[in-house]
Amino acid sequence: MIEHRLIERMLSVIKGVLAKIESKHAVDPVFVDIAVDFIRVYADRTHHGKEEDILFRELNKKALKAEDSQIMKELIEEHLFGRQTTKALVEANNLYRKGDETALADIAANFKTLTEFYPRHIEKEDKIFFPLSRTYFTDEEDQALLAEFWEFDRNMIHEKYKSLVEGFEDR
Ligand SMILES: [Fe+2]
Ligand SMILES: [Fe+2]
Repeated sequence: MIEHRLIERMLSVIKGVLAKIESKHAVDPVFVDIAVDFIRVYADRTHHGKEEDILFRELNKKALKAEDSQIMKELIEEHLFGRQTTKALVEANNLYRKGDETALADIAANFKTLTEFYPRHIEKEDKIFFPLSRTYFTDEEDQALLAEFWEFDRNMIHEKYKSLVEGFEDR
């Protein structure tokens, strides 16, 4: 939930840039790169990573009520949708950088999709899914999850910069 708050702040920043895109009919492609990096590394890999690789994995070992497992499926689909939208954003930004002005509308549309879809996803987790998840775990299990979250986070900065170097090496 703490991580959701930072994602919301980034979404507000993106909304500000969206307003500027509308008034100035231009965007800084470097801003789009940085927003994509935030979404991919923080929101998706670090945050959804802890949800999918740890929380959902442990919930899958429990006898979930049908409606609870349905919500988990929806959340996984929403993570996929977020990834597809981000990929479309990257493609539009590449075209825009090459001088294709029509790609600006796609950049704006994908940003808009993200700013509309993420708050709903976050609300579903904060108000419904996380509280119901907690009921499946004992206090010991809850503490073990938390410890694994910390360990997962500890690796993220190393993973990010290792992949950055590998990206340069592959060029
Ligand atoms: Fe999520
Ligand atoms: Fe989340």
